[in-house]
Amino acid sequence: MKIDILSIFPEMFKGVLESSILKKAAEKGAVEYSVTDFREFADNKHKTVDDYPYGGGAGMVLKAQPIFDAVLSLADGKPSAKKPRVILMCPQGERYSQKKAEELAEEEHLIFICGHYEGYDERIRQHVVTDEISIGDYVLTGGELASMVIVDSVVRLLPDVIGKAASHEQDSFSTGLLEHPHYTRPADFRGMKVPDVLLSGNHAHIEEWRTKESLRRTWSRRPDLFEKYPLTEEQQKWLQEIEKEDNPY
Ligand code: ADE
Repeated sequence: MKIDILSIFPEMFKGVLESSILKKAAEKGAVEYSVTDFREFADNKHKTVDDYPYGGGAGMVLKAQPIFDAVLSLADGKPSAKKPRVILMCPQGERYSQKKAEELAEEEHLIFICGHYEGYDERIRQHVVTDEISIGDYVLTGGELASMVIVDSVVRLLPDVIGKAASHEQDSFSTGLLEHPHYTRPADFRGMKVPDVLLSGNHAHIEEWRTKESLRRTWSRRPDLFEKYPLTEEQQKWLQEIEKEDNPY
């Protein structure tokens, strides 16, 4: 996968793209990152990328020209036959989700546009962008941090980036429910004990415990997730039992 990021603060990405799994993914050849300062594309003497809004009002608006030309140059230089997804980071966009991460992980080329202004000239939205994404209902100083969240969640889904494929198939949200609790050694930490079933070696019992704990956690923290999750008859029965408990968590 090729990931291009357009930002006037390219230095913000260094620590994130050059650490941990994102760095390893690039070293393995699963992904190639490129961060471009779109100010380089401004066709005016002072390299300005923003201007006053028509009709007046507070704040500046990101100009169409530098973004149009930057995206055009990146899209033309692409090695793949597929058209790139051009993603505008903005609080008005579609709310980001694991489902969207899975969809983007199928692409060959992603281009992120990160702005720092009151808004973007509307023609960018209309003619350049394929997706507008918000990472949540709050306003950041710019799209950079939001794009890093998306890059991180997409790259970890690419083939061979995370050691065991199973480790993300079980992720919270990938299954539709929140993940069950985990424990590691020691079995007794300062009097706090690991549930016996996990030490039993009985895999069928362990799987049942994990499914019930996953249901319990989802019910207490994110009951909205059940709206889209088809429960088996057995799971429905377990959930009814959980709902009768006084204090599940
Ligand atoms: N830019 C500013 N706030 C944002 C948000 N919540 N999501 C995506 N991009 C943004």
